[in-house]
Amino acid sequence: MDRMTVRDVDVKGKRVLVRVDFNVPLNPNGSISDDGRIRAAIPTLEYLVEQGAKVIIVSHLGRPDGKSIPSMSLEVTGERLSELIRHPVRFIDKCIGPEVESGVNSMADGDILLLENLRFHSEEETNDPEFSARLARFADIFVDDAFGTAHRKHASIVGITRHLPSVAGLLLEKELNSLGHILEKPVRPFCVLFGGAKIADKVKLLENVMDKVDVILVGGGMAATFLKANNYIVGKSIVDEKGLELAAKIMAKAAQHNIRLLLPRDVVVTGDLTPEARGICVQVENIPPLGKIVDIGLLTINQFTRELERCRTVFWNGPMGIYEMPQFSEGTKCMADVISRLHATTIIGGGSTAEIVAELKLADKMSFVSTGGGASMQYLSGENLPGVEALMRKL
Ligand code: 3PG
Ligand code: MG
Repeated sequence: MDRMTVRDVDVKGKRVLVRVDFNVPLNPNGSISDDGRIRAAIPTLEYLVEQGAKVIIVSHLGRPDGKSIPSMSLEVTGERLSELIRHPVRFIDKCIGPEVESGVNSMADGDILLLENLRFHSEEETNDPEFSARLARFADIFVDDAFGTAHRKHASIVGITRHLPSVAGLLLEKELNSLGHILEKPVRPFCVLFGGAKIADKVKLLENVMDKVDVILVGGGMAATFLKANNYIVGKSIVDEKGLELAAKIMAKAAQHNIRLLLPRDVVVTGDLTPEARGICVQVENIPPLGKIVDIGLLTINQFTRELERCRTVFWNGPMGIYEMPQFSEGTKCMADVISRLHATTIIGGGSTAEIVAELKLADKMSFVSTGGGASMQYLSGENLPGVEALMRKL
């Protein structure tokens, strides 16, 4: 990687400000439902502790829009981190100001301190120079390990690098290397499996990998738009009207590049989305006028499985159906299971796909599960990530 990492600097006895992405999903009772992002930050944090740094952790959680919202406090992530890393983690319910400065002054080498949600201050998201200067005041070195937030031009990601020597953490490095593998030299055949609703996010990525990809499989909400663009009647399924043209464009490009682009051959449809709703499996030619597509069908599961099984690199982003409703989660679960058993490099996009893989306890069976949803899509689309660019400027 052509940027400095935490291994390239001497951190012993130094106050090291580490930006992580502890924006973890929470249960309604406030407990953490997926601690993957906390686990992913541990190699950097452990390394810093072992090296005798004073480790000061900052992050955001949720979108509090500049207000202090108790349900978005990072305290719960500190408790979880402490259990996972088997080391005390002191929490201060501020991220700037005299309390933080005195807390930092009392740290011994190897101590860990977690500060409160940066987004309780609106200046974080506006990349306010005074705010980043205040954050920088109590540190000697900045380590960016927040890959999940690298697509945001925020004070603790970009502004801060103007005030402190700044290097990448081990997670950021690993993310860029693992995702970079897809962009540079994927072992072929290379398959992209897409689900979820929005097409626009995925089009740029597909365009960026067109000359490397062999198979594109489309499921989930976006399948309705692709099917409609192919003149199928999709009943009451939600169609991304703006995406129709994009879908047609992608299909034309795939044909030009000799890429196999497969849409579902059968789908599960339902008339209502109440918790008791039941679905029926129909061929895509026979979607009833009042039916909504809620999952891929069995023929499609089998066909996608055969395609995946002959590939050596797989990138997956987006559920195949309405995963939150157990009766419509079968397609997604089957794809997760198939991908976890492939003899291939398997890379899972972040966000909801990462949460699903974690919930199914399959994360360890994938080559790499990204901690970034928006960030991984933006990176794979060939766009710059402000967080990464800011570190490059430091060289
Ligand atoms: C994420 O989960 O997408 C990152 O933590 C960034 O959060 P944001 O989408 O609220 O900016
Ligand atoms: Mg996001």
